[in-house]
Amino acid sequence: MSAPEMAIPKPEPRVERFEKMAFGLFLHWGVYSQLGQGEWIMHRKSIPIEEYTKLKDTFTASQFDAQSIAWLARQAGMKYITLTTRHHDGFSLYDTRGLSDFDAPHSAAKRDLIAEFVEGCRAEGIVPFFYHTTLDWRWQSNTCDDAAFEKYLDYLHASVEILCTRYGQIGGLWFDGDWSRPKADWKRDRLYGMIRRLQPEAIIVNNTGLQHPGEIGHPEIDSVTYEQAMPRALDRRGQPKYVTGEMCQTMNSHWGVGRMDFNYKSTAELIQTLCGSRRVGANYLLNVGPTAEGAIPDLEAATLRAIGRWIEPHAEPIYNGKPVGAKCLGRDFVLQSGGKWYYFAFDLRISGHENVTLAVGGAGPRTIQGLRKPIRAARWLDDGSPLQFAQNLDGGFAAIDLTGYPYGSNYVVRVAEIEFAADSR
Ligand code: GLC
Repeated sequence: MSAPEMAIPKPEPRVERFEKMAFGLFLHWGVYSQLGQGEWIMHRKSIPIEEYTKLKDTFTASQFDAQSIAWLARQAGMKYITLTTRHHDGFSLYDTRGLSDFDAPHSAAKRDLIAEFVEGCRAEGIVPFFYHTTLDWRWQSNTCDDAAFEKYLDYLHASVEILCTRYGQIGGLWFDGDWSRPKADWKRDRLYGMIRRLQPEAIIVNNTGLQHPGEIGHPEIDSVTYEQAMPRALDRRGQPKYVTGEMCQTMNSHWGVGRMDFNYKSTAELIQTLCGSRRVGANYLLNVGPTAEGAIPDLEAATLRAIGRWIEPHAEPIYNGKPVGAKCLGRDFVLQSGGKWYYFAFDLRISGHENVTLAVGGAGPRTIQGLRKPIRAARWLDDGSPLQFAQNLDGGFAAIDLTGYPYGSNYVVRVAEIEFAADSR
């Protein structure tokens, strides 16, 4: 291929802004939350529509305080929240303005919960994103005939139009469900064209699901999805536009609250996954299922706050760091930002008095291959303590002599800041 064909396209400003948001909160919440067995319960238990509809009469949202959720997200170091405005069961958290009476204003809550969500986010400087299903079990959109499907699409697009016009500027729309009718003409040009017209700054995502992570679809898509899967580096050479990526993941095994799901990932694992996403420039959208009443469960809230404490000293590389073409061993990697490099070190151990810590190891020199600028200084980002280094400039090798954690902390992933001699940018 000739050089121009291999060029890497420049990201649109909205995509650049999205990438810098880095970390978001995914919320799956709806009438199903009352059953505490995830968001697929209607389908899984084949609950008849009439029976399922009754769930709206007990859906009170009595503990839904959008601003306190946005505040929690902020404490977690998250910059955006993606909330299920409507999921596959067809219940809308927003006022559908006559399109359907299976919505929050017609529930026991009697409120437009999306209006509250958007307001709560804005009060905390969090960007609201709207998840919206494209699969709708009430319409049987996955099995109905073509004529019914056409009607359904009109309903779907009219619904999205409400979201684009009634809630001010939003961060983006996150669609999910096209996989339920893979061969259908979803009229995406029409839908995405409307979004571009009404919300030109909004990111458009359409989840490719568990089976097709990272797959690029319609040309208007701004970010590919990695559902429950570590993102890969995208090869953007010769691509018509710069598309970014976002990994979404459950904190346990369910998106909607699972009362009997104890399979929680550890804080350590979540931090590693956040880092692993940033390694390839992807965002990390971490999911929590609020309770039936709309509260964030305690365990999830505490975990989110802990991640926020980790992010605090690492904010610069986490939000602004970009991948560089340098190689490290194992899971370690390097990001660059503002002329500095940031070395992300995994598997370090605590070293200390033999009576307080058993694990010694992990410390010692670690190499970076592909670094040809003279290093001036290296230090841990968390406490500023200096690190020794050695370099072979011609060979493009550097080694940073990593110290273990002093007894008193264990960051799981520890980040070293590498500064270069002047004029070597
Ligand atoms: C899947 C599921 C859905 C969940 C989504 C989140 O596509 O159908 O329940 O909302 O993934 O990524």
